[in-house]
Amino acid sequence: MNAIAAVNLKGYIGKGGDLMYNIKEDMAFFVRTTKGKTMVMGRRTLLSLPGGKGLKNRTNIVLSRTMTAEEGKERDVLIARDVNDLFELLRSLGIPEEEVFVIGGGEIYSLLLPYCKTLYITRVLSEEEGEVKFPVIPAEFALTQGEVNYCGDLAYRFDTYVRNR
Ligand SMILES: NC(=O)c1ccc[n+]([C@@H]2O[C@H](COP(=O)([O-])OP(=O)(O)OC[C@H]3O[C@@H](n4cnc5c(N)ncnc54)[C@H](OP(=O)(O)O)[C@@H]3O)[C@@H](O)[C@H]2O)c1
Repeated sequence: MNAIAAVNLKGYIGKGGDLMYNIKEDMAFFVRTTKGKTMVMGRRTLLSLPGGKGLKNRTNIVLSRTMTAEEGKERDVLIARDVNDLFELLRSLGIPEEEVFVIGGGEIYSLLLPYCKTLYITRVLSEEEGEVKFPVIPAEFALTQGEVNYCGDLAYRFDTYVRNR
């Protein structure tokens, strides 16, 4: 399992139910990386997507204890009720874990980080305060730091963390 997130220097990923930054190159990276794969997200992140619906050309799985099966259909998502249910669903669909990308938000990154092997972190070099954080990345992940890019005045890097034990 992998995770993909845009995280600032203070660990923040979201504010007011939305993303904190709009970096075109990062969106393109997200689309490229997740295309044809399976995405796992929390209910609040689903609601923040365009139209509150799953993204096209991907299998969209939402973790939710409250969303009805009917609502799941309307929003083009499959629903998992807890972590066990998620792994059962992946097994029943024959989806290998390396094809799975956890796309947020804070609650779901925290829940699934223990199962993630690779973290694609767009590190936004800003100290802006937010409301929702990415969990602290444990020491068993080795960091490969990308070079600094700019979106206007906003600096960011494409970092990769790989679990080494
Ligand atoms: N920067 C980034 O890369 C990035 C990426 C994604 C999201 N975000 C931001 O993150 C924020 C949203 O994050 P969030 O932490 O508030 O919400 P979230 O993780 O997207 O969703 C939380 C919901 O997931 C469900 N859930 C949580 N744990 C569960 C479990 N163990 N089993 C089943 N369902 C479970 C619950 O839904 P029910 O209430 O239905 O049970 C819960 O309300 C937004 O601001 C969003 O824009 C940022």
